Amino acid sequence: MKYFVTGSAGFIGFHLARRLLEDGHEVQGYDGITPYYDVALKRQRLGMLEKFPAYSGVEAMLEDGDQLKTIIGDFQPEIIVHLAAQAGVRYSIENPHGYASANLVGTLNLLEAARAAPPRHLMLASTELGVWGQPALAIPRD
Ligand SMILES: NC(=O)c1ccc[n+]([C@@H]2O[C@H](COP(=O)([O-])OP(=O)(O)OC[C@H]3O[C@@H](n4cnc5c(N)ncnc54)[C@H](O)[C@@H]3O)[C@@H](O)[C@H]2O)c1
Repeated sequence: MKYFVTGSAGFIGFHLARRLLEDGHEVQGYDGITPYYDVALKRQRLGMLEKFPAYSGVEAMLEDGDQLKTIIGDFQPEIIVHLAAQAGVRYSIENPHGYASANLVGTLNLLEAARAAPPRHLMLASTELGVWGQPALAIPRD
């Protein structure tokens, strides 16, 4: 199956992408490599994914809605797993706009890109979308 995984350099996205590749799936990653924590660690994770021929990755921000739409449109994933996010609670006090930008605008951009090239399933896993009151949301299409 073809999976599009946002946050592929992050903790959960990396482990998910690696597991999917080990299981024989095709994975496209999407991550802006934000400096919220050690960027070298994120690059090391991407280096591990790049060893798999079935992996391709894009370094870009969710806020770039046109780019996201083009990439999803070209890849035509069957499954989208959305794990890119500005995570963390304490940092939201210091930088609330970073959360609105990545988690609200970015997620809306992802949903719009998925609307233009609908996957079979789209899964969001976030504790940072508090305004939606949903710790996790899955949207099955069939
Ligand atoms: N780790 C946990 O224990 C845990 C528990 C519950 C829920 N979650 C949720 O799962 C999701 C992933 O968590 P994680 O621990 O893997 O976080 P993480 O910070 O390790 O990974 C997030 C990735 O998203 C990327 N990113 C951030 N903002 C971006 C943007 N605007 N555009 C493109 N890429 C961007 C970062 O570079 C990073 O690699 C988050 O929504 C988090 O709230 C995590």
